[in-house]
Amino acid sequence: MNAAFLDGIDDINVRQTDVPAPKADEALLKVNSCAVCGSDLKIFHYGNQRVKYPTIVGHEVSGEVVEVGTAVEAVGVGDRVAVGADIPGVWNTNVAGKTEFVDYATGHEFAGGFAQYMLLNAEMIKFGPMTRLPDQLSFEAGALAEPLACALHGLELAQFGPGKSIAVIGLGPIGVMILQVAHAYGASGVFGIQRSRTRLEMARRMVDNVRYIAAEEQNVVETVLAETDGLGVDCVITSAGTVQSHVDAIHMVAHRGFVNLFGGLRGQPPLTIDSNIIHYKECFVTGSHGCLPRHHKQAVQLLASGKVSGDRYIHRRFPLDRIRDAYAYHESRAGLKVVIKPNGD
Ligand SMILES: NC(=O)c1ccc[n+]([C@@H]2O[C@H](COP(=O)([O-])OP(=O)(O)OC[C@H]3O[C@@H](n4cnc5c(N)ncnc54)[C@H](OP(=O)(O)O)[C@@H]3O)[C@@H](O)[C@H]2O)c1
Ligand SMILES: [Zn+2]
Repeated sequence: MNAAFLDGIDDINVRQTDVPAPKADEALLKVNSCAVCGSDLKIFHYGNQRVKYPTIVGHEVSGEVVEVGTAVEAVGVGDRVAVGADIPGVWNTNVAGKTEFVDYATGHEFAGGFAQYMLLNAEMIKFGPMTRLPDQLSFEAGALAEPLACALHGLELAQFGPGKSIAVIGLGPIGVMILQVAHAYGASGVFGIQRSRTRLEMARRMVDNVRYIAAEEQNVVETVLAETDGLGVDCVITSAGTVQSHVDAIHMVAHRGFVNLFGGLRGQPPLTIDSNIIHYKECFVTGSHGCLPRHHKQAVQLLASGKVSGDRYIHRRFPLDRIRDAYAYHESRAGLKVVIKPNGD
């Protein structure tokens, strides 16, 4: 089969390798779609201590199960599934003999979806995130269950629910998904705050009934406060990896509201803020990273219901041998999601 091997920093190469042979408790996935994620680009440019070269990355995956080991019952040949990143419940005994939780994720500790076939290991089959795709859901939209699941996790930690107001800072694919979920969950009011105009207009075309604010043209905190009678919003999610978005979030959240610092800050100065703001507001500042298999299942349901319109996020498709072009397109921010089609179907 062909696979895109990450051989080092900024060094990815498509070459032939053996199709993985599943053991009794494993299965084989024929990859249909693997979406490019910002973290694939971070790994590409900066490396990651959890990723050892050469490896196959890509963790937003969907495909068809084409072979199962004799002991596998959870999936069968012909099943259409989506596969995500983080596998919980994996424990290891360290050198001191102590049992500890270990990070274990698709495209990190084990091979991911930028290949024609991907091994579904025993832990993935036992714990997930692996979810069957309903017939009406395309493979391409199914691959987006992974980023959507992360968004759902962030919203859960921000205690978001029906009747609450929300501001989403940063309208890339994650932010737009959060706008759609906010409506699906019955938000009382939704603010969408975005820096570049291109992405702001892209979001506007995707989701109605949002008060859009152009971060470069308006004072976003003053605008949100003015439009909420000075009260601020119940929840703020920073789906942007910038310090400013984190500062703005804490300034615009309501008394006893929740902020979720969803976007990580890489290579940027630390967040400095007058902690009296948090003290007097009695607000809750949370973070979130990754998700659990139950969020992946919930994400597939939301995609299948059409409440999150998965197919509309996919602006470009590339064959595996053009993975560098796919990465470049992702980085151009000309669209929302880009998908690799390793088998061309
Ligand atoms: N917690 C998790 O589990 C998890 C999972 C996936 C992703 N993430 C993180 O979540 C963030 C969103 O993901 P994504 O794929 O949607 O990223 P993305 O494509 O980089 O989009 C981020 C958007 O935020 C905008 N932005 C940046 N600073 C802003 C500010 N101060 N005010 C308003 N808008 C601002 C950017 O605008 P421009 O167009 O002007 O650059 C961009 O459109 C990223 O930081 C990513 O690393 C976290
Ligand atoms: Zn991802």
